[in-house]
Amino acid sequence: MKNIYLVGFMGTGKTSVGKELAKAKKYHFVDLDDLIELKERRRITDIFAKDGEPYFRKIEKKALKEVSREKGFVVACGGGVVLDKDNIKAMKETGKLVCLGASCDAILKRVAGQTHRPLLNVPNPKKQIDVLMKMRAPYYAQADKVIDTSKLSIKQVVGKINKLTQESKKVKVKSKDRKTKVKSKK
Ligand code: S3P
Repeated sequence: MKNIYLVGFMGTGKTSVGKELAKAKKYHFVDLDDLIELKERRRITDIFAKDGEPYFRKIEKKALKEVSREKGFVVACGGGVVLDKDNIKAMKETGKLVCLGASCDAILKRVAGQTHRPLLNVPNPKKQIDVLMKMRAPYYAQADKVIDTSKLSIKQVVGKINKLTQESKKVKVKSKDRKTKVKSKK
């Protein structure tokens, strides 16, 4: 049972969707940011404030590496996990990479009033979201599938991912059949 990695910009619903998806598929669930906070025994905001983003990225990479050794997990990743090509490689080798997307306005609404994301604790979060989203677009595009969640409920997004992961099973069965046929011709 390979893992399912949920990536995508902050506020696209990776954690909420991930928890429901894990229930539906009877997978385990882990939120990478929670794991980092547990290991570091401090909040992400404190890590950024005291040791800076490069340190955070280092421990994020280490945490992902550890999780990628496990099987049958839905992993809700932090929005910046895709910026490291080794992270993309580790996720693709050990699972399916699904990116949740949303419009800048939808994200702005969802993160309003929240203060636990250091990158959005700025005077003009709308501009920041816009700039970061444009800069990160090519990284998110490397996912196996991108789902726009702007107008979807958690249940609808879970349904889409569920279908997608079931479809990939069907394809495997088909190609196995084809192999069997080729073999029997010999
Ligand atoms: C980040 C996203 C956050 C968290 C950190 C950095 C990012 O996770 O990892 O604040 O660079 O996009 P969420 O996407 O779960 O908010």
